[in-house]
Amino acid sequence: MIITVASFKGGVGKTTTALHLAAFFAERDKTILVDSDLNRSASRWGNRGSARFEIYDEKSVGEAREFTHMIIDTAARPADEDLVRLTETSDLLVIPSATSAFAVEAVVQTIGILSELPQDSYKILLTIVPPPPSKEGEKVQKALKKAGLSVFKHRIRRYSVYGKAEAEGCIVKEVKSDRYAGIAWGDYVEVGKEILA
Ligand SMILES: Nc1ncnc2c1ncn2[C@@H]1O[C@H](COP(=O)(O)OP(=O)(O)O)[C@@H](O)[C@H]1O
Ligand SMILES: [Mg+2]
Repeated sequence: MIITVASFKGGVGKTTTALHLAAFFAERDKTILVDSDLNRSASRWGNRGSARFEIYDEKSVGEAREFTHMIIDTAARPADEDLVRLTETSDLLVIPSATSAFAVEAVVQTIGILSELPQDSYKILLTIVPPPPSKEGEKVQKALKKAGLSVFKHRIRRYSVYGKAEAEGCIVKEVKSDRYAGIAWGDYVEVGKEILA
């Protein structure tokens, strides 16, 4: 399966999502992560951890052999035609979005192009969702669905363990000093299962 992670805005959890989905699929089958962000954020992160997936950039990906899944992290702000192309070259386009009005606005602006895509070609993933009593995640999810967009059932909640994982160069599951490590990882496991379902 080829899964591309793309979004209209930066800082919405694209790299985090690509790394954690790569870790999820790597537990099942040989998986590679392709870092096509010029800032090479995934590579910098993954290189420090005990990642069980290999990381390639766009130039070296031709050297990758015998993998079952490829997860592609991209830079922000693809043009409309890039999005269409990404859905054609991937089995699934995952579009992370934070839940702030500002972040959602970026998704809403592209409703035109998204609603022309086949429903099963892309899925919006709500990320960095604030904890209760905030209902922001649920509210945004309902609004996007009502607009006819394809949205993951499961949302990625906001936990400070992501910052620790980034600092340690690993995925949240591997952070020893945080009791939310397993809970945070569980969110990505649910999303991975949704992809496989
Ligand atoms: N679920 C989350 N909870 C808390 N912080 C998060 C979460 N997801 C990502 N972050 C943090 O938000 C920042 C931006 O995430 P990143 O994945 O680099 O976004 P992008 O690749 O879209 O620019 C990073 O510092 C990351 O650690
Ligand atoms: Mg990134």
